[in-house]
Amino acid sequence: MAKAATQFVCQSCGAVAPRWAGRCDACGAWNSVVEEAAARPAPGGLGKGGARKGRRVEFFDLTGSGTPPPRRATGLREFDRVCGGGLVPGSAVLIGGDPGIGKSTLLLQAVAVLSGQAAGQEARCLYVSGEEAVEQIRLRAQRLGLGKAGVLLAAATSVRDIAASLESGEPPAVVVVDSIQTMYVDSFESAPGTVSQVRASAQELIRLAKARGFTLLLVGHVTKDGQIAGPKVLEHMVDTVLSFEGERGHQFRILRASKNRFGPTDEIGVFEMTGGGLVEVANPSALFLAERQGDIAGAAVFAGMEGTRPVLVEIQALVSASPLATPRRAVVGWDAGRLAMVLAVLEARCGVVLGAKEVYLNVAGGLRVSEPAADLAVAAALVSAASDRPVPAETVVFGEIGLSGEVRAVSQTEARLKEAAKLGFSGAWTPARRAKAGRAAGGGLAITEIAHLHDLVALLTAEGRRRELG
Ligand code: TYD
Ligand code: MG
Repeated sequence: MAKAATQFVCQSCGAVAPRWAGRCDACGAWNSVVEEAAARPAPGGLGKGGARKGRRVEFFDLTGSGTPPPRRATGLREFDRVCGGGLVPGSAVLIGGDPGIGKSTLLLQAVAVLSGQAAGQEARCLYVSGEEAVEQIRLRAQRLGLGKAGVLLAAATSVRDIAASLESGEPPAVVVVDSIQTMYVDSFESAPGTVSQVRASAQELIRLAKARGFTLLLVGHVTKDGQIAGPKVLEHMVDTVLSFEGERGHQFRILRASKNRFGPTDEIGVFEMTGGGLVEVANPSALFLAERQGDIAGAAVFAGMEGTRPVLVEIQALVSASPLATPRRAVVGWDAGRLAMVLAVLEARCGVVLGAKEVYLNVAGGLRVSEPAADLAVAAALVSAASDRPVPAETVVFGEIGLSGEVRAVSQTEARLKEAAKLGFSGAWTPARRAKAGRAAGGGLAITEIAHLHDLVALLTAEGRRRELG
């Protein structure tokens, strides 16, 4: 039987098909199937019959001999936090985000701070842009007050040229490539930004980073639905994937790691975009709560955790009569499926029926909350909106809700309460704690334990108030 000399491979998921198709059957991506030369296996496996013998691979133990080079903190603390304490030499970091969100600004600031701060140690930082001219980057740096930083700029898009410039001379400490979608390798025919170009360019740049021991910071564009454009393998190739998020119209920007080979992925970095560039926000809670109004029905302050840091945010709900057969439900900053669950539990277990109402939920300030611990705060905002009775303004709420309406304990209660106390809150609605589990740690807050959603509803309805007063 004659063997096919070529095969058709989807560049986005790697599925192999016998013939070309406009749309990959396996992952549904369009225009991703490309003809490739099929590798012909030697008969009888690799060992026998192969013309070339493999070279022996050397194995090492875990202890090793030399000490690894230390992480390099950029000095931009919020950035370092998300990276796990600083940049690891020889590693590659990919930063994705919407156009105009501030990726170029962030990286320029990070390398400017790094190169400026380590003037004595010669931290050579290079910034290669395929999107802007050198003069434009210079202007931006001047606007940011970084005109004197020791960053070296270049405008280039050919990976071969960049590699040639990096291969000789003193190795740089950090190289920024903005963006990977503008880079091309001249041995490929396709245009920059295509899957094969992105993959080949990234591969070559990452190889260089490992060989020369510098940290590679790659900017990646994102598609309409927020994925980093190009092949998923790009995310596999790099060591760290960061996303830079923010709502248009809000000045907050949040840096988040979705993959990190050298650190945790649950830390966030919070920045504020100002006329003078990105400013670090050391206390995000104060910022997210800045525009909060006192006793308003339909709002509850959630004491959340982002990594090791407590973050307080306001959750707002609006419940209104609907003219539609299927009332609208809209969520910003939280999971829509989770909202549906909380609404169902409220209806089935507590008789709070919102099925015919429109429900809107919003996490104020543009933060995205993903913790299940926000359930109770969401429920409080919803019940408060429906009953038109405010949650006491100086109260934080947190707890996970189970399907039978029970409120479950969440992690890091102490840290949440401590942050609330620090910001001047006087009370907290929390899950019922297991016997004697450190009641004293409330940090002076009046704790109201909520074992079941019933208790929450009672607190926020007329009956509850009557009970409270009488
Ligand atoms: P930029 O870093 O170019 O975004 P990206 O590289 O992610 O596309 O940021 C551009 C936006 O940031 C632009 O809309 C204006 C805003 N900006 C400020 O508000 N202040 C500043 O000092 C700078 C440099 C940019
Ligand atoms: Mg840019």
